[in-house]
Amino acid sequence: MDARARMEANRELWQRWTALHVPSDFYDVEGFIADPASRPFDRIIAELVGDVAGQRALHLQCHFGMDTLRLAQLGAVATGLDFSPAAIVAARELSGRAGLPATFIEGDVTTPPAEVPEAAFDLVFTSYGVISWLPDLRPWAETIASRLAPGGVFKLADSHPTLWVFDDEADDPELRVRYSYFGRDALEWEEFGSYAAPGDEHVGTSHSWQHTFEEIVGALVGAGLVIEELREFPLLAWKYTPAMVEREPGLFGLPDGQPELPLMFTLTARRP
Ligand SMILES: C[S@@+](CC[C@H](N)C(=O)[O-])C[C@H]1O[C@@H](n2cnc3c(N)ncnc32)[C@H](O)[C@@H]1O
Repeated sequence: MDARARMEANRELWQRWTALHVPSDFYDVEGFIADPASRPFDRIIAELVGDVAGQRALHLQCHFGMDTLRLAQLGAVATGLDFSPAAIVAARELSGRAGLPATFIEGDVTTPPAEVPEAAFDLVFTSYGVISWLPDLRPWAETIASRLAPGGVFKLADSHPTLWVFDDEADDPELRVRYSYFGRDALEWEEFGSYAAPGDEHVGTSHSWQHTFEEIVGALVGAGLVIEELREFPLLAWKYTPAMVEREPGLFGLPDGQPELPLMFTLTARRP
């Protein structure tokens, strides 16, 4: 199966996952609609995005738009892009119901449609479970660099490449190395329920790819961006293993007694 076919399978999976996620407790859409301010970004993303008031913001892999609408709520003129048509339909509906205007566009982040104009954004933002869906980060980085206006910034938060080597299925609270850090091949999983809607029903097969820091930074620098900040955190916005514990609202760490490891990173880069 080539990478394009795998991405197409992922798109079908995200179509089904969107239907499970919109009504899920994990995303708590009704709570968000009732009071968007009560469901803000977690501390790490809030620090990363900072003051976005008045900025033209492009949110890549926006899923059904909750974070796009958080940017809108902070005063950004927000656009979300995702390749799942169901997610885009749900995002538009959520935007209307929450009273937070934003534009939502269906498209692949590696081959964005013409509705996502070049050199038009002060901020390109993407977070949490995004780069692992991309087989090659170079076209992704080209999209980011080409859509940023000169002087605009790219902000990324995702799981740390180091974390990917550990077994996320083991019940044992001790982390066990299972995967090569330098793994190149697609990883395939049969998905039952999802990370946000646990269940026994088979939903589809996911195809994901590991990326080293060398690949991430190399792709962005290769596209002409200048890295301004890289931060690492012993916290993650979801439980990678069942033994992880919530350390602050929405942020999870390894259990007591385990050495601290980098679980998440944030990166800021600028188009000169
Ligand atoms: C884990 S979600 C992002 C989660 C988001 N931060 C949130 O919390 O809602 C990953 C998203 O990437 C999208 N996606 C995956 N591959 C993509 C691609 N090649 N182009 C555009 N969107 C893609 C999926 O449809 C999904 O909505």
